[in-house]
Amino acid sequence: MSHQFLSPGPLPASLQLTPEGQLKHFLTIEGIPPLLLEAILDRAEQFIDIPSKKQRKAPLLRGKTVVNLFFENSTRTRTTFELAAQRLSADIINLDIRTSATAKGESLLDTIRNLEAMDVDMFVIRHQHSGAAHFLARYCSPEISVINAGDGNHSHPTQAMLDMLTIRQYKKEFPPLKVAIVGDIRHSRVARSQIHALNTLCAGEVRVIGPRTLIPAGIEKMGVNVFHDLDEGLDDVDVVIMLRLQNERMETALLPSAHEYYKRYGLTQDALKCAKSDAIVMHPGPANRGVEIDSEVADGSQSVIMQQVTNGIAVRMAIMSMVIASQAELHS
Ligand code: CP
Repeated sequence: MSHQFLSPGPLPASLQLTPEGQLKHFLTIEGIPPLLLEAILDRAEQFIDIPSKKQRKAPLLRGKTVVNLFFENSTRTRTTFELAAQRLSADIINLDIRTSATAKGESLLDTIRNLEAMDVDMFVIRHQHSGAAHFLARYCSPEISVINAGDGNHSHPTQAMLDMLTIRQYKKEFPPLKVAIVGDIRHSRVARSQIHALNTLCAGEVRVIGPRTLIPAGIEKMGVNVFHDLDEGLDDVDVVIMLRLQNERMETALLPSAHEYYKRYGLTQDALKCAKSDAIVMHPGPANRGVEIDSEVADGSQSVIMQQVTNGIAVRMAIMSMVIASQAELHS
C-alpha cells in the first residue's frame, strides 16, 4: 500500500466528467470546476429543504441498482450512502466483503465483472489502496458510475463536500474564511480532499497544523500555510477541522505517545480560545476523545460534528442523482 500523500497519478478530467462537463463518476475533488462543486452543494440544500419525512423519498434512482463495496470499515459513510440511495428510491446492495468471494482470493476486477453481469448501475467503493476507485472507473462498463467513498490516503471527496456544505451553512461565503486543519495530515485522505475543495471554492486561507512527522514535505504546493504550533495556527481562524491520528496507516512510530500528542495538539476549550469566538469545530469522525479532541469541545456549543453527519445524506443524494442524470444523457 502506498503511504505517499501525493496522488496515485494525474487523473484525466475525461475520466470523471462528461464532454459537457457533468459528473460521470465522483473520484476526486481535484479538477472539478468551482461551479460544479457549488452545484453539488445547491442540489444537497434542495434535499435538506424537503420539509417532511413523508415527502423526502425522491424517485430519481427508481429502477437503479447501487452496490456498496466497502473493503475498509465505516460507520458514517456506508450508512449515509445507503440511506441516500434508499431516499432516491434505488435498490441498494451492501456486499459484505468479509463473507464475499474476496476472502477466497477473487480479484477486484473479477468481483466487478460478476456484479456487472447482475446489471448494476453504480458502485460506491471504499478501499485501503490509493487509486482503487480510479481503477474501477477505468475498467468497469461505461454505463456504470463509480463514487469514491475513500481510497487509501488519497481522497475522500464526498466527505469533503459534506464538510463544505456544513461550512457554507454556518459561514455563508468561503472567500473571507480562515480554515485550520489539525493533526495527522500525512495519512489523511480527508485533509487532501478538503484542501482541494477549500481552494477551489476560494477560501481566504487554508492552514495545516501538526508535528513535522505528520505533515508531508512540500504540502505548501497544495496552497496551504503550515504551522507546527497549535495556538499560532488557530489564531483568528473561523473553522477548525480536527483529524484522527491514523495509527493503522503509520508504518513506524511517528509520535512519542498519544498523551504527548494531546498535550501539544489536542483541541481543548483553552486552545479553542485562540480561534475566533464564533469559530466552528469539525471532525470527520471517528473521533478519538482525549487524543486529538477533548470531549468538552467535541460535545460543546461550537461543535458542528453531528451536523456534518446529517449533511452526509443530502450530499450523497446530490452526487448520486447527478452522476445518474449524466449517465442517462450520455447513453440516450
Ligand atoms: N468520516 C468517515 O469516513 O467516517 P467512516 O469511516 O465511519 O465512514
